[in-house]
Amino acid sequence: MQTKFILFSGKGGVGKTSMASTTAVYYAEKGCKTLIVTTDPAANLSDVFEQEIGHKITPIEGVQNLYAMEIDPDKATDEYKERSLAPMRELFDEDLIKVAEEQLSGPCTEEMAAFDKFIDFMETDDYEVVIFDTAPTGHTIRLLELPVDWSRHIEESAKGSGQTCMGPVALIQDSKKKYDNAIAKLRDFNQTDFIFVMQPEETSLQETLRSSHDLEEIGIHTTKVIINGLIPEAETIVPFFKGKYDRQQVVIEKAKELFSQLPIQTMELFDTELKGVDMFKRSAEKLFQGSDSNE
Ligand SMILES: Nc1ncnc2c1ncn2[C@@H]1O[C@H](COP(=O)(O)OP(=O)(O)OP(=O)(O)O)[C@@H](O)[C@H]1O
Ligand SMILES: [Mg+2]
Repeated sequence: MQTKFILFSGKGGVGKTSMASTTAVYYAEKGCKTLIVTTDPAANLSDVFEQEIGHKITPIEGVQNLYAMEIDPDKATDEYKERSLAPMRELFDEDLIKVAEEQLSGPCTEEMAAFDKFIDFMETDDYEVVIFDTAPTGHTIRLLELPVDWSRHIEESAKGSGQTCMGPVALIQDSKKKYDNAIAKLRDFNQTDFIFVMQPEETSLQETLRSSHDLEEIGIHTTKVIINGLIPEAETIVPFFKGKYDRQQVVIEKAKELFSQLPIQTMELFDTELKGVDMFKRSAEKLFQGSDSNE
């Protein structure tokens, strides 16, 4: 079995967490062992699933096969430091360990730690589906660019000074392999889905186009777009909503033209917030209506 990875990206507040949670509930309900992980430092999976989650894999109540985790950047940094220092503790004296510890307090450790934790989940084969709910686009693209930068940085440092911003190059050669491996998976659209969520508005469409292009620059392809927040057709008896509905349809048509190669899913606006397992079962029905059971 090959694990399927699904990343959700998009601007702040467009519905990434809602669509990621909807998709997670959909796959879990279908019987796939599913993990939803958030890389957003302002994680709120606990709020939407209405239970304590935090920096550990937690079974979600009310849905079999569904697990969730919120990556805590501080805890990820501590774990990463400890993992990097552990092998050195046996070999070197305290003074050297102190120097290494200082190096690991450099500016790139935190970013590296977050990515390291993120790709840990790309290496497990415990789940059939792993869903990543991410922070707003800029942050995520930066996160995904990092390993490309690092890989290059490690390579150049190996030829030159032997020092990297993460410590001596000899100690992190293994990490380079791990990063290269993760990048390859992210670029492989047979294994990784990269979904942009947007609102049915012109500005949101423009932002999605730009971000999708930025992602393409690092070799990661967008595989789907979800347009979230459509006025339900039944509401168009009110002129205010009819006007908005019509403008939304124009944006949808334009999105279909501009992303002509990609599947586009749409999601109606609900009259309540999207939270709680029962609500996600409802939204999953709408999001995946008409899709075959093999999806
Ligand atoms: N289709 C919808 N119908 C009704 N409410 C929605 C819908 N989609 C999202 N919402 C609500 O809009 C708000 C923002 O959605 P969500 O948290 O999923 O966005 P986000 O992109 O993850 O935001 P952030 O960038 O802050 O992480 C939430 O309160 C959510 O419940
Ligand atoms: Mg969110």
